[in-house]
Amino acid sequence: MCGIVGYVGNKNAQDFLISGLKRLEYRGYDSAGIVTLDSKGEATLLRAKGKISNLEEKLAKNKREDKIGIGHTRWATHGEPSEANAHPHQAGSIYLVHNGIIENYKELKETLKEHEFKSETDTEVLAALINSFYKDGKHSLINAVVQALKLAKGTYGIAVVSCKAPDEIVVARSGSPLVVGIGHDETLIASDASALVGHTKQAIYLNDGEVALVKKDSIEIKTLNAEPVSAKVEEIETNLAAIQKGGYDHFLLKEIMEQPESLKETLRGRVNLEARTVHLGGPGLSEDELRKIKHLVIVGCGTAYHAGLLAGYYIEQFTPEITVETVIASEYRYRNAYIPEDSVALIVSQSGETADTLACLREIKKQGVKTIGIVNAIGSTISREVDGGTYVHVGPEISVASTKAFTSQVIAMVIFGLTIAQAKGVKPSILYPYIKEIAAMPEAIRETLESVHEKVKKIANKYTKYDHAVYLGRDTAYPTAMEGALKLKEISYVDANAYAFGELKHGPLALIDDRFFELALLPEGHLYDKAISNVQEVLARGGKIIAVTNVKKFDMKVEDVIEIPDTLEIFAPILMNLVSQLFAYYMTVAKGYNVDQPRNLAKSVTVE
Ligand code: F6R
Repeated sequence: MCGIVGYVGNKNAQDFLISGLKRLEYRGYDSAGIVTLDSKGEATLLRAKGKISNLEEKLAKNKREDKIGIGHTRWATHGEPSEANAHPHQAGSIYLVHNGIIENYKELKETLKEHEFKSETDTEVLAALINSFYKDGKHSLINAVVQALKLAKGTYGIAVVSCKAPDEIVVARSGSPLVVGIGHDETLIASDASALVGHTKQAIYLNDGEVALVKKDSIEIKTLNAEPVSAKVEEIETNLAAIQKGGYDHFLLKEIMEQPESLKETLRGRVNLEARTVHLGGPGLSEDELRKIKHLVIVGCGTAYHAGLLAGYYIEQFTPEITVETVIASEYRYRNAYIPEDSVALIVSQSGETADTLACLREIKKQGVKTIGIVNAIGSTISREVDGGTYVHVGPEISVASTKAFTSQVIAMVIFGLTIAQAKGVKPSILYPYIKEIAAMPEAIRETLESVHEKVKKIANKYTKYDHAVYLGRDTAYPTAMEGALKLKEISYVDANAYAFGELKHGPLALIDDRFFELALLPEGHLYDKAISNVQEVLARGGKIIAVTNVKKFDMKVEDVIEIPDTLEIFAPILMNLVSQLFAYYMTVAKGYNVDQPRNLAKSVTVE
């Protein structure tokens, strides 16, 4: 979603702002803008609808040597994508960029009659409100911001500059992330640490309710109630290679292909094959606490939700005394759900910033339930608010569609389940097959990607004329099918839905006709024969089936077969999901759509 950058130092601010905004492009946006100030406070405001390249065209005619500025990529919430609605917004000497939503902007606007509004945004209302406190010189810039924020309801990450204070940036956050990077004689601001990579490794992550006065050589942080905050300086772990395409045409393909390595990072230090045990330090639960767990609630959205569903199937397989309920965060936050005693909640999020997931976390904590994060983005809000956590460590996921995070989220949760099972004294002979396959998985993923790649590409090209798809699976292949369908719909815009094979007769079978193709996930196992009967039913109605299977010598007469190596049994669906990921990728390339930034979507959904 929206992105914020800011710079104050000795270098060219426009250069940093544009390069920083480009780093944030992956989050999704529809317009962009920057403002810089010269040493006398003269502002250069540039905004453009559409891509950052449009902004760069304006920049080419307005190059400045200014050393301070703020910038923004906007994802429309209030008001259409347009230059007038793009940030920064101005009121008097104030320029403001804002992520989030000011919910009471209409009431606030009523009180700001003096300001002539030029946009439809809630952000301009906040700019005018800050200016109303600042314009007569009674407040410093930071105090004017604080006064305004005390009246604003909603979520925000903001950066503010004023022509009257051309060496200061004020930043604040409530529900929308902000990172302050500490450089040599320069301070950098971003809503996402990836914009700071290559500039500094030292950063301060603001907490909700904090506001900071940022200069090139100082950062002063306080709460909105004026209590000083002593900030913790943290290390940015991401390196430049992790946020570049590294020779691939798209980030999505790079992220699919790097799963052998990214999963290795997830497993590092957590699986001891010799001792036949797993170990997780982050959750911080004692053996006794683990033993007592009877119920897991797994919360997530989209791909993270699917990862939770799949992990739930596995955890129930090897931990008989446990029930697992996986829920969609946007629903769960408004359900009056009672969480039974001896429950633990797993909060699953790649970005660690998803608004609905975060809201669930806060609701669940109110019930006194222990929360454990399954998060990728280090230092993100969810990772900081959970009681304990397990980072999946897959590195930055730049493409909007989540791929490598899914694989590692599933496995991190299964490992958490295994630690519970170990503590409960489940026989090692039951747990070892899981541990063994988890340890073998990076290599199995590498082998699968290698062996299916060309074939999936060819088959995807064959199906580009279809606009409808049905994904099918049973048991662990069912949530996997759901994830495959989501991937296809979100990037190739094919109307793809997943069904449990057993549900076909209860409705979806009526869909099957020549407008559809069906992708069937058919892992060997106790439900394989039943799934094959369902495939027959689809074939009998003229269905066009692509079978994805690890069964050797699969001999059904279906349209296409994609065989995956039979290296894994239990986790074969995860290998099948690699096929779905590649299939969605190549369908999208063949259709000519924007792979990494699909229409209407944002990488990190920080508003409800
Ligand atoms: C799909 C996708 C989304 C995210 C969802 C949750 O490819 O990326 O469905 O999985 O928005 O995001 P996080 O994991 O950041 O909470």
